[in-house]
Amino acid sequence: MPELIPLISQQEIEEKIQETGQKITQDYKGLDLVVIGVLKGAFVFLADLVRQITIDLEIDLVGASSYQNTSSTGQIVFTKQPDLELKGRDILLVEDIVDTGRTITKTVESMQLLNPRSIKICALIDKKERRETQINVDYSCFCLDGFIVGYGLDYNEKYRNLPAIFELKF
Ligand code: IMP
Ligand code: MG
Repeated sequence: MPELIPLISQQEIEEKIQETGQKITQDYKGLDLVVIGVLKGAFVFLADLVRQITIDLEIDLVGASSYQNTSSTGQIVFTKQPDLELKGRDILLVEDIVDTGRTITKTVESMQLLNPRSIKICALIDKKERRETQINVDYSCFCLDGFIVGYGLDYNEKYRNLPAIFELKF
């Protein structure tokens, strides 16, 4: 049985998201913000983050999938496209983890085709050391390594419902 090691508590997550929400609120004043969550992993983070942003915004979702077990397959499959009109608007992509960067890079490329005014990235967890693409994460809550689960993040679809962030040790 893999072991769950507590890394970040519910309270620490809450504090960091509050701080990040305030920054986004400041930065997007006067812009036309559309927050787009990357499914599935970002669903918990997205729900908490948008409630800390106090300017007008709209929410959409994109489905991107790449992982099996604990390693990226390298193949990104889009399972859902956004429904809103995004032309000329300011997209903030909300991702659970940016690891190699392949998923978010492909997602940005796919969003660019819709001609938004801007695209920025907000990640709950940034695994900076493992990056294989040239992508800049504009807002990151925590920089971690290891295999992480909880708070939306899964291992083969399990553990998403844990309220805090854990490392899964095999
Ligand atoms: P990338 O394409 O290598 O950047 O991988 C990003 C995607 O892989 C994220 O959206 C996550 O869903 C998943 N992922 C990467 N690292 C982890 C992890 O430690 N735990 C759970 N999922 C992960
Ligand atoms: Mg994901």
